[in-house]
Parts: sequence; structure tokens; C-alpha cells
Amino acid sequence: MKKLIRPSVAGLTAYTPGEQPRVAGLVKLNTNENPYPPSPAVAQVLRDFAAESLRLYPDPMCNALRGRIAELAGCAREQVFVGNGSDEVLRLAMRAFTQPGGTVAAFAPTYSLYPVLAAADELKYRTVPLPEDFSWVMPPADLDAGLFCLANPNAPTGVFYPLESIRAFCRAFAGVVLIDEAYVDFAGGRDCLELAKTLPNVLVCRTLSKSYSLAGLRLGWAIGSPELIGALYKLKDSYNVDGLAQAVALAALGDVGWMQTNARRIVATRERVAAGLAERGFRVTPSAANFLWVLPPAGMPAADLFAQLREKKFLVRYFPGPRTGDFLRITVGSDEQMDALLAAI
Ligand SMILES: Cc1ncc(COP(=O)(O)O)c(C=O)c1O
Repeated sequence: MKKLIRPSVAGLTAYTPGEQPRVAGLVKLNTNENPYPPSPAVAQVLRDFAAESLRLYPDPMCNALRGRIAELAGCAREQVFVGNGSDEVLRLAMRAFTQPGGTVAAFAPTYSLYPVLAAADELKYRTVPLPEDFSWVMPPADLDAGLFCLANPNAPTGVFYPLESIRAFCRAFAGVVLIDEAYVDFAGGRDCLELAKTLPNVLVCRTLSKSYSLAGLRLGWAIGSPELIGALYKLKDSYNVDGLAQAVALAALGDVGWMQTNARRIVATRERVAAGLAERGFRVTPSAANFLWVLPPAGMPAADLFAQLREKKFLVRYFPGPRTGDFLRITVGSDEQMDALLAAI
């Protein structure tokens, strides 16, 4: 019988997103969403938005938004790509920066979408194992890959890698390094933007989903050399970011102070909860993100704790597997949510 589906797609294991429950009453600490609302400027844009304008296609290049992002990043508009969530940026980067049948590399563990995107493009996926404490390790010099996806802070561990280590790797690596900074606003002012602005093979990718409280909007961007950015623009859908998202994103990025205030609150909560969990015998990986990567005390297997918390209406994230299966990833919610979680534990 004729095969209807391309074998690589038929054999693909799709990405497993964190559960998005449709029932009320669950404390949702499983997908690193922000517990606080987006800037009031966002609500204002939604109230004022002229439905009539949706008759027309949106700006395919997101020029107003590119301008604002360039202004914030201190770079030229040509160095900014705007995408439908940073997941779109990642997907396009897989295609743009590898040879057919080539290789994508990343640390292990890291964001579990990377291998799925590589497989969807029929690319090989090579991992560089992180040490036991998930801290930085220099990838081997002979790493033969077109693209290295480097989440910093890393997911699901929350570990922040030092700028100088990343710079040394980017200089040594022959391919493109995509530094995925989805969580960087929780890292106390540290970032790798400078590398994207100075090195020809580095892209930094950001999102409104986490620190800007806009996971429901789908807006991400990349910063890098005009050559790398131009390649992403060639591959994107004609109108990859809808007009409403462009307007809302512009409002959110016009109120960076709101985001920073929320990020500071979340960081303060994170540190308090990390201490509370440590007191209860958990090994807590130092986190620069809006989540905690924790090893429960002996006699409390992570999978069991996950299930028990689910019964008590707390949704956290469990990643089965040899490197991750002993741990839980807990999103930092509001103080009330986290106090309730500590009490439940
Ligand atoms: C490391 C990392 N990068 C990117 C994303 C996706 O972000 P977006 O919502 O912009 O697609 C996530 C989401 O969980 C993530 O953990």
C-alpha cells in the first residue's frame, strides 16, 4: 500500500507539552507560566483594538516591533527576527543552519523540544552530557554539528552558565550557536546579548511567554547578525505574527518596568521556596529561572511525589528518563501558591 505519511513523520514522537488542564481548582506549577498578569498596557490595547483592522494582513516583517526590540537590545533592526513564539525561531533555525541530514547538538538534559524539531527535519541529534550537578561542561572541540541549541538558563535545571564559558565555546564552534534565553529575565541582569551582537555565529532567542506573562500570545524573537536573521526571514510563513499579537507585544515591550517588577517578585519567592524545600530535605539546584529543579529526599521518589501532589491539586512537571527521572521541576508561582505547596509537601 502507498505510504501516505513521510516515514520520518510517521516515526516521530511528538513533543509532550505540560498538561493544560481545563478544570478549575488546580494550582498550575508545570509549564513555567507567570503567576502575575501582563502589563495593564496589554489590556488597554485589547480594549482599544480596532476589529476592522483585521480585514488587512499584518505587517509581514513586524517592523514596529523589530524597532522596539532593537532599541531595547541596542542593535539594528536588521539584527532582529520576530517569530510566532520562540518555538518558531527554534524550528526555523534547525532548517536554516544545518545541511540536509546534518546534525543538531545540545546538552543533556535540556529543553525537550530540541530533539523533536531536529527529528522533524530529519536531522541527527547529538547530546553533550552535563555533569552530575548539571553545571557547565565545554562541548568537545570536534563537535560536528551545524547548530548547537544552548538554553541559558538551562531548562529544566535552571542552571545559568557563565558568559565567558559560552563565549569560549562560541568562538571554538564552527556552526551556529542558538542561545535560548527564554528565562533570562529571572537571572539577575546577566545575559549573552553581547555575544549575539559581536560574534557572527551566535543568535540569542527571547520570548514574551515567561517574564512578560504572555504565554497565550505566542511571540518570540531572535537577535544576531543580519546574515543569520535574513536566513530566518526567508523561511518563515508569510504572515507569521498576527496583527493583534504585534500590537499587544508592542505594548508589553513598552512597559519593561512591569515585567521587571514581576520578575523580581518571582525571584524573591524562588529563593524563599528553595530554602523551604532544602529545609525539608530536598536537594535544590541553584536556579536562575522561574522554576526549581529539585531532588526529593530519600524515600520520596519523584514520580510518587508528582502523583501525590496531583491528587492534592498541585500540578508540577515530571520528566521520566535516566538523567531527569529522580527530579521534579516546580514552576515558581505566587507566594500563596508556593506556601500551599510547601504545606502540602
Ligand atoms: C528553554 C525554552 N525555550 C523556549 C520555550 C518556548 O517559548 P515560547 O513560548 O516562546 O515558544 C520554552 C518553553 O517552555 C523553554 O523552556
